[in-house]
Amino acid sequence: EELRRTLTAMPKAELHIHIEGSLEPELIFELAQRNGVSLPYPSVEALRQAYAFSDLQSFLDIYYAGASVLLTEQDFYDMTAAYLQRAAADNVRHAELFFDPQTHTARGIAIETVINGIWRACQDSPVSASLILCFLRHLSEEEAIATLEDAIPYRDKFIGVGLDSSEVGHPPEKFARVFERARNLGLHLVAHAGEEGPPAYIESALDVLNVERIDHGVRCLEDPALVARLVREHMALTVCPLSNIKLRVFDVMGQHNLRRLLDAGLAVTVNSDDPAYFGGYVNDNYLAAFEALPLDASHARQLARNSFNAAFLEPEQKRAWL
Ligand code: ADE
Ligand code: ZN
Repeated sequence: EELRRTLTAMPKAELHIHIEGSLEPELIFELAQRNGVSLPYPSVEALRQAYAFSDLQSFLDIYYAGASVLLTEQDFYDMTAAYLQRAAADNVRHAELFFDPQTHTARGIAIETVINGIWRACQDSPVSASLILCFLRHLSEEEAIATLEDAIPYRDKFIGVGLDSSEVGHPPEKFARVFERARNLGLHLVAHAGEEGPPAYIESALDVLNVERIDHGVRCLEDPALVARLVREHMALTVCPLSNIKLRVFDVMGQHNLRRLLDAGLAVTVNSDDPAYFGGYVNDNYLAAFEALPLDASHARQLARNSFNAAFLEPEQKRAWL
């Protein structure tokens, strides 16, 4: 209960949140109604009932379907504003938000609509917020390159690029050229790796993509030499405990390797991934992990410190929150 207060009250940064994954069933229905989009579910409750996943792909199918209600700049604004307000309530001081432009441009939505809506909500936010444009790895590198070129007029509205969607079968090597292009544009680089995919994908995210953080990365413990390297390079991992349970990366929270990652000396952070789908926002992730695992107040402080250290912020800004 004191630990609970520490976890909820401590200032923190959130570095792994897909903004489309913050779309709650209630807002999906509201936007569907507003836009005249018909949904294959009769009610909010029925939609929520469908949130039972067996792996990453089973989640992604329903996540992309949910995003289909987003049509106007105001829709993207409302979704983002709702998340940022919720994050503020969890004492998030700074958030780096992933967004998936290809999910929307594939439906005929202009990238300008997507970026302007999300970005404007970040400008009006109660917490510091920046954007990371993610490429969908189940699509081709040519499509990723076209997306990045499309986004160049809005270059000042996002700070980096990431790589998400179906991991296995779509290794980092597939996106070497688009990440090189992003690097030349001065963008920060991150990638999902070692969520469902093997430790080799983490290694190639580092060697081939030159990423500055690894999203998830929990499978690194299968390779001790890789762990030693991640520690040596102070490479942050953006871990998402509730996501890992819902997508069956671990069977139950008591089996999550968060404590082992910390004990190995890794720069672990705790994040929500897709809070509307996985049963909670960032504080729910801290609380669920700390309830099931042998973690104490010193781990809590370490995780919060790691979250600011790993953020793409100016050093003086980090010092103000640390
Ligand atoms: N897109 C949204 N959430 C994701 C996750 N956890 N892994 C890969 N792609 C995603
Ligand atoms: Zn993710």
